[in-house]
Amino acid sequence: MDTRSEFSSRFGFLMAAAGSAVGLGNIWGFPTQTAENGGGAFVLVYLFLTFVLAYPVLMAELLIGRHGRTHIMGSLNKISHSEASRKASIVISIYALVVVSLILSFYSIVAGWMLTSFLDPVARLMGLDNAATWLTNFSLERNLLAGLSFLILTVWVINRGVKDGIEAWSSRLMPMMIVIIIGLIAYVLTLDGAMEGLRVYLTPDFSRVFDPDLVISALGQTFFSLSLGVGTMMIYGSYVSRKENMIKLGAYVAVLDTSIAVLAGLLIIPAMYVAQHNGVSIYAADGALLSGDTLVFSVLPQLFASLGSAEIPLSLFFFALLSIAALTSSISMLEVPVAYVSENSNFHASRHRASYLLALIVAAMVIVILFNFESLFGLVIAFTTQISQPLIGILFCLYAGWIWHRNSVLEELAQGNPEVANSLFWRVWPNYIRFVCPVLLGLVYWQSLS
Ligand code: PFF
Repeated sequence: MDTRSEFSSRFGFLMAAAGSAVGLGNIWGFPTQTAENGGGAFVLVYLFLTFVLAYPVLMAELLIGRHGRTHIMGSLNKISHSEASRKASIVISIYALVVVSLILSFYSIVAGWMLTSFLDPVARLMGLDNAATWLTNFSLERNLLAGLSFLILTVWVINRGVKDGIEAWSSRLMPMMIVIIIGLIAYVLTLDGAMEGLRVYLTPDFSRVFDPDLVISALGQTFFSLSLGVGTMMIYGSYVSRKENMIKLGAYVAVLDTSIAVLAGLLIIPAMYVAQHNGVSIYAADGALLSGDTLVFSVLPQLFASLGSAEIPLSLFFFALLSIAALTSSISMLEVPVAYVSENSNFHASRHRASYLLALIVAAMVIVILFNFESLFGLVIAFTTQISQPLIGILFCLYAGWIWHRNSVLEELAQGNPEVANSLFWRVWPNYIRFVCPVLLGLVYWQSLS
């Protein structure tokens, strides 16, 4: 009898997995990268890479996870048939567990800023101007309080388990987020200057499509956006019922994630041009984006401030959107080590204990990063997102393509989809994940390091 938790419905899984995928990477990262990399050309390359490289890797993770029905190390181990691949599973899993915990630590810091930016208009509404200033000024104390508060919120959800925590909260928060984003787009597009932004966003400059830097940025962005290469999708796959058609579910997750990134672009890029129309500088004389990394804290609040009475509701909704998106992603990060510790009989730890213990470890990482912000913050982001996620992604492809027996892959795919042996997916994907994905990913990875 399988007594392990499962998502209770297809909708629940979709909201959880799309919730993991849709995060600061979509609403902040994607539009900023688009603005930095020539508008529509970046969007085009991003869509292409999501379809040809990220979706196949997403499928590898989801399938390995559902087949294993356990934590990352157990799932990789289950498909390994030699001593060498079993040993490699241990090393890869530990690497992924460290990387996902490091991602959670920098993500909590950034999400903490979203929380304080959300609380700023609330404080101002209540007449607490000093508190509002403290919330928006960069300081060690503020960063510590905000980052750790966000982490507490994450543990609070994770503690409730797969159904009542992850699924229930993602199912409430995701629809709310979609409503907020559509409402904000509708408003911003009525403002002067927005149409110019829309034009830049939707007209690709084809001469930039083959620019290697653009391709590397787009690939990194789609991997981060789909939460690949850290075991998150593997663990979410392990909670999916065997009755579901995985090929379809994976495609829905990729489409939902990409659609929300594209929607976020429809909000942020026109908003930047509205800000420019209102006198805020966005691009330097040489065409480079000014303050790309602080775009959402500098340009957008200046834009909101120029809109009179709309300022408070706009910033409230905008930062609520970012905070919600961040929370549904951070819970998926913490779930990876929590599942590993609580399902591993060597540790004798309940889910509650595991989540508190791991949150304490991540809290310690947050504190160390914040005390050494200048030297560590950028380094941790580069090590996790640029170096580790693509590398582990390649290793997952190799596991799915070379180590997992083909018959067993087909059996797994046939669960919930008995006709799969005749499908286009089965004709293409096994060789694709075996040869094409590792080679293409390897090439781009090589380029990005050199
Ligand atoms: N996909 C998230 C985003 O776009 O913000 C980030 C993320 C979530 C990365 C979960 C890694 C992860 F395991």
